[in-house]
Amino acid sequence: MGVIELICSPSGLCISKFGYKTKFSSQGIRQIQLQFNCMASPVVPVQEEEYISQTQGLTGDSFIRPHLKNLSPYQSILPFEVLSTRLGRKPEDIIKLDANENTCGPPPEVFEALGSMKFSYIYPDPENRQLRSALAEDCGLEAEYILAGCGADELIDLIMRCVLGPGDKIVDCPPTFTMYEFDAAVNAALVLKDSQIVDQEKPKCIFLTSPNNPDGSIISDDTLLKVLSLPILVVLDEAYIEFSGLASKMSWVKKHENLIVLRTFSKRVGLAGLRVGYGAFPLGIIEYIWRQTSLIMYLLLLKSLHNVKEALVEERERLYKLLKEVPFLNPYPSYSNFILCEVTLGKDAQKLKEDLAKMGVMIRHYTKKELSGYVRVSVGKPEQTDALMECLKLLS
Ligand SMILES: Cc1ncc(COP(=O)(O)O)c(C=O)c1O
Repeated sequence: MGVIELICSPSGLCISKFGYKTKFSSQGIRQIQLQFNCMASPVVPVQEEEYISQTQGLTGDSFIRPHLKNLSPYQSILPFEVLSTRLGRKPEDIIKLDANENTCGPPPEVFEALGSMKFSYIYPDPENRQLRSALAEDCGLEAEYILAGCGADELIDLIMRCVLGPGDKIVDCPPTFTMYEFDAAVNAALVLKDSQIVDQEKPKCIFLTSPNNPDGSIISDDTLLKVLSLPILVVLDEAYIEFSGLASKMSWVKKHENLIVLRTFSKRVGLAGLRVGYGAFPLGIIEYIWRQTSLIMYLLLLKSLHNVKEALVEERERLYKLLKEVPFLNPYPSYSNFILCEVTLGKDAQKLKEDLAKMGVMIRHYTKKELSGYVRVSVGKPEQTDALMECLKLLS
C-alpha cells in the first residue's frame, strides 16, 4: 500500500502550464509534484487552512459538467422496499403493476443456477462466450453480433456514449420509453421529437420501440425498412417483443450496418432484478461497445421461456376485456405486457393511481403533460388482475 504525499510548487510564481510529476520511493510513499496555473502556496508542506482558503466558493457541484445541472432526474418508480415501508404493507401484499415487470418471475432453473455459482470470486469471461453462444442459438444469429449488458438500459447508455457528441441530435418518437431522452441529455445531445425532420436536422440516431412503451403498439416492417434507408443509426428496442407474437429483427443487423436491436431478460423471463439485457449489433459498432458482465450463470433460463410468455399473453387479453368494462377507462389494445388506459369521465388519472396505491395496488401514472390523463397497468398474475378489478369497482 502506498501513501500519496503532495508537494506543492516551491514558490509563489504563476506557472502557465498544469502538470505533475510522480516519484516512487522505497518507503512506499509516492510523491506527486503539482504545478498549478495559479498562485501556488510557497510553503511545503501545505497547511490545512491554506487548502481551505484555495477552495473557497467551490461546492461539490462546481465539478459537475454544466449541462447536467439543468437535467431533471429520471422519473423512476419507487423501489419495492421503500414502497413497502411507505404503504405499511409487506412486499408480498403489494400488487405491483407499475413497471412492466414480469410478475411470473423466473423459472426454477435460474435459482438452481444462481445457487450453484461456484466461481463468483473470479472475474467473469469478459466476452461472455457461453451466454452469447446460447443467445446466438436462440436468436438465429452468430455470436459475434451479440453483446450482453446490465439490462437494456446499460446498452442504451453505452450506445449513446459511443455515438453521440455534445450537440448531436437523436430522434425518439414520444410517447415512448423516457430513458432515451434522459441518456441523450446526459450526453449533451438534443432530442428531436419528429422523425419527419431528418433531412434538415441530420440527427445521428433514432430510437424506435416495438412494442412501444407505454402504448403497446408495434412498428411495421415496411416502416422500419423506410427508416433504415435513411443515413441514421436505428436503435430498435424490442424489450417486449416476446409478448407480441412477432419475430425479432435481430438477424437484420447482418444486412443493415445502421441497425442495432435491443432485448432484455427483464420482461422475457422476469429477471428485472438481475439486470440482464442483450442486443444485436453490426460488426463495425460492436467492438466499441464491449463490456464485461457476469451473466454466465443465466444460461439455463433460455430453455424455459415459452410457458411464461403464453400465460402472460392470455392474461393480457383477459385484463384488456375487464378494463374495457370499467366505465372511466379506455384501454388501448397492446402487443406487450402492459396496457395503456385513457382515464375518462372527468376522473383524475393521478388521483386514481394514488387511490389504488392506498389499497396496495400500484399502477403507473406519468407527470408528462401528454400522458397526464393516462395510466399504464402491467399484466400480472390472474389473482392480481382480480384484485385490481375489485379495487377499481370500489372506485367506480
Ligand atoms: C422499452 C424499454 N426498453 C428497455 C427497458 C429497460 O430494460 P432493462 O430492464 O433490460 O434495463 C425498458 C424498461 O422498462 C423499456 O420499457
